[in-house]
Amino acid sequence: MENKTVYLNGQYLPLDEAKVSVLDRGFLFGDGIYEVIPSYSGHLFHFQDHLQRLENSLAGIRLANPYNRDQWAAILEPLLDASIDQSVYLQITRGVGLKRDHAFPENVPATVFAMSSNLEPFAGLNQGIKAISMDDTRWKFCNIKAITLLANILHRQAAIGQSCAEALLVKDGYLIEGAASNVFAVIDGILQTPPKDHQILPGITRDVILVLAKKNNIPYSEDKISFNELQYASEIWVASSMREIVPVVELDSNPVSDGKPGSVWYAMNDIFQSYKKSLS
Ligand SMILES: Cc1ncc(COP(=O)(O)O)c(C=O)c1O
Repeated sequence: MENKTVYLNGQYLPLDEAKVSVLDRGFLFGDGIYEVIPSYSGHLFHFQDHLQRLENSLAGIRLANPYNRDQWAAILEPLLDASIDQSVYLQITRGVGLKRDHAFPENVPATVFAMSSNLEPFAGLNQGIKAISMDDTRWKFCNIKAITLLANILHRQAAIGQSCAEALLVKDGYLIEGAASNVFAVIDGILQTPPKDHQILPGITRDVILVLAKKNNIPYSEDKISFNELQYASEIWVASSMREIVPVVELDSNPVSDGKPGSVWYAMNDIFQSYKKSLS
């Protein structure tokens, strides 16, 4: 692995020199939050929206934001490369306690870590992916972008175990989101996605899709989608910063419609790609 420069607690270091204590609460408890921000040609995509979600996640775990928005921009800037597309990973944990104790430590600075990686176009983008559905086993605060991702990891790995690229999570008979993505379905010609509440991560890509749908007169709604209704969907997509907008062409071994990406996806993907270019 290339020994790139990363940011850790005020310093820029080669990756293999960046070390945290074993008493860091991120390591011991998964006590922290994170963001993943795409950077297209050196421009952080919807940066203010990502910072707003970061602030919400920090408030959700009762951790003070160590920096203001300008300071965050200055911290990430040296990690950006205008000649490529990147994803920037930013993690904040509740710092290093004196001992392993569930209670919040007092007067301990947060641990702040950031790194960037090359962002390659997702391989399954044009042909679509296979997905499975699973009962959502996660906790009640999925709106917080917590680093505690064990349930998501087990969901995603179950999908991989069945040669699928994503697990679509279902709770009480309703479609919630993917293991690492938000979900959309085209039902009766209307683009639908579950509303934002504590059960889903408020995805930045999701919100951009809805704004672009509105601007381009694509009918959409933010309504709960029952798992039964999903059987009648002409299209299903998943959306995230890392993969963008990906058509699901097979769910639980059954083709979605004719098993090919649908016309609404083609339209939205074009709109999304042009929008990205217009910003960078
Ligand atoms: C559970 C979950 N939902 C939704 C998303 C999509 O969010 P975003 O579009 O901000 O990447 C992610 C991204 O990783 C995720 O992990």
